[in-house]
Amino acid sequence: MLVRCARSRLSVWAALGVLVLCWLYIFPVYRLPSDKEIVDEVLRQGAAWSKNLTGIGLYRNLITKCCDPKRMFAVTKENSPMGKVLWYDGEFYHSHTVNNETYPLFVQETPLQLPLKKCSVVGNGGVLKNSGCGRDIDQADFVMRCNLPPLSKEYTEDVGSRTNLVTANPSIIEKRFQSLLWSRKAFVESMKAYGSSYVYMPAFSMKPGTDPSLRAYHALADFSSNQTVLFANPDFLKSVGKFWKAHGVHAKRLSTGLFLVSLALGLCEEVTAYGFWPFSVGLDEQPVSHHYYDNVLPFSGFHAMPEEFLRLWHLHKSGTLRLRIGRCP
Ligand SMILES: *[C@@H]1O[C@H](CO)[C@@H](O)[C@H](O)[C@H]1NC(C)=O
Ligand SMILES: *[C@@H]1O[C@H](CO)[C@@H](O)[C@H](O)[C@H]1NC(C)=O
Ligand SMILES: *[C@@H]1O[C@H](CO)[C@@H](O)[C@H](O)[C@H]1NC(C)=O
Repeated sequence: MLVRCARSRLSVWAALGVLVLCWLYIFPVYRLPSDKEIVDEVLRQGAAWSKNLTGIGLYRNLITKCCDPKRMFAVTKENSPMGKVLWYDGEFYHSHTVNNETYPLFVQETPLQLPLKKCSVVGNGGVLKNSGCGRDIDQADFVMRCNLPPLSKEYTEDVGSRTNLVTANPSIIEKRFQSLLWSRKAFVESMKAYGSSYVYMPAFSMKPGTDPSLRAYHALADFSSNQTVLFANPDFLKSVGKFWKAHGVHAKRLSTGLFLVSLALGLCEEVTAYGFWPFSVGLDEQPVSHHYYDNVLPFSGFHAMPEEFLRLWHLHKSGTLRLRIGRCP
């Protein structure tokens, strides 16, 4: 009796154990390496890097297949005709129906001269400070930057001065330019730092972002600016998010930087990324500020920067793109 009871209890435990093992197999406990482990790993790899055309081709195909950046990265008259419903990618159940107010603001089709050859994607990480990477960045054929970063003289040596595409988050328009209700001229003036670039705005990601984005378009148009506003296509942003989720990035929302890297992997023959280092300590064990221009921390839990960095690091190691961390030669 006692033996039977013990044996059945044993089999219950065994069954439970098997269940737990199966569970762990299907949903592995996810452990990110610590900052120190990552720094050590980057130091171990050193400056060695060689281009891998197989990897570059593979990722171009993967991203073309999932997300069709050539045709879809911006909202165009071609992919978003009158009456088309654009579903916001950052909110549930909100949409914008293309109407006679928004349709005329869209470009006819993707205006980029493709394929792009060498591309620089510039994140805003503090690791760019004293990097001397400005010349390197500017030497590319196409330079992409994130979130209207400052490009004043004091930063040129580290971050360069050329821009071909810059992203502009509506929240920056709201905060820095009071939603363009009375500072349109100041906005257009400050945009001169980006030359005749494309201004890439996620106008259809969050509902409150649409009006400031449309106002930014009109401000630039009214002052005959040389810039071309491109509205980010929410379908493209959604498909890129899904792509990285399938490749192990568990963020609620991707950072602008990873969106741009994805775009570059799809459109460029060679990608170098600068200023992507989401850790507070550098390779020389000195503290690193959050941005190259300030040390304001973002609110946490929204992006998954270290996870994103690890994806980029894998791409670097396989020679698919080049990550510049620390000083440029
Ligand atoms: C080149 O990239 C391919 C595809 O990502 C990968 O399988 C291969 O190992 C890479 N080669 C080297 C030398 O890293
Ligand atoms: C836009 O559409 C609305 C309703 O469909 C119409 O009343 C209005 O006249 C149109 N405006 C222009 C400029 O075509
Ligand atoms: C536009 O570009 C031209 C030549 O590149 C320049 O002369 C002009 O000042 C620019 N206009 C604005 C508003 O930036």
